[in-house]
Amino acid sequence: MTIIAIDGPAASGKSSVAKRLARRIGFFYVNSGSMYRAVTWELLRQGIDPSNPESVQSSIASMDLGCGFNAEGESFIRINAQIPDAELKESGVNNSVSTVSAIPAVRHLIVARLRALVNEHNVVMEGRDIGSAVFPDAPHKFYLDATPEIRRLRRAAEGLTDSIDLRDKQDSSRAEAPLQIAEGACVVDTSHLTLDGVVEKIFQLLTDAGLTPR
Ligand code: CDP
Ligand code: CDP
Repeated sequence: MTIIAIDGPAASGKSSVAKRLARRIGFFYVNSGSMYRAVTWELLRQGIDPSNPESVQSSIASMDLGCGFNAEGESFIRINAQIPDAELKESGVNNSVSTVSAIPAVRHLIVARLRALVNEHNVVMEGRDIGSAVFPDAPHKFYLDATPEIRRLRRAAEGLTDSIDLRDKQDSSRAEAPLQIAEGACVVDTSHLTLDGVVEKIFQLLTDAGLTPR
């Protein structure tokens, strides 16, 4: 199966671009961040302290986690029989997700699920470590970026409370699978591009690299 990895910091445009690109080329779409968000949401719901790795580890050991694709070919996560959606963008989740995702046991749990999702489908998968750690051999890797000011404005325009500077700092400095430009990744600065402009640019790069869309 073919994997297109898209990584980058918060509000660089990963989700919007990956979703549109996947639709355009007939690939399935995987939002890996939503899986870290779902685990964080469930931990908070259970009253677990996200900054206590032992408590987190013992809670995730009994979590019933299921991942799959919906009818639109977009990934979903079911956690203890619930499928959270809008809840994943709550400020409580935004504030704790980088702490939770730095815990190796959490990463191992989710990375195994992400790897299983590509068994039967071509996918565009977006996150922080897709090209560097989850699929280092992916044939197509992109790293989206934009200036911190523009990324902050994008989040504010969505009406979300999200300390993206802090999250980026935590994500870039953690020991396991930090946010970084993967070897062989093509960096795309989205600061002054529209979403369609970014999709078009990546589409051209993929076509130049020999990918023939369905
Ligand atoms: O959409 P946004 O860029 O704000 O975040 P996200 O992709 O939903 O990811 C939320 C958080 O999950 C990130 O800040 C990381 O802490 C974590 N994450 C990760 O560690 N590895 C991934 N592959 C994806 C997300
Ligand atoms: O997934 P990630 O956090 O990297 O970004 P996103 O959620 O796809 O995009 C954050 C916001 O920025 C969305 O409201 C996008 O519509 C907007 N955006 C934009 O206006 N122009 C771009 N070139 C990229 C994103």
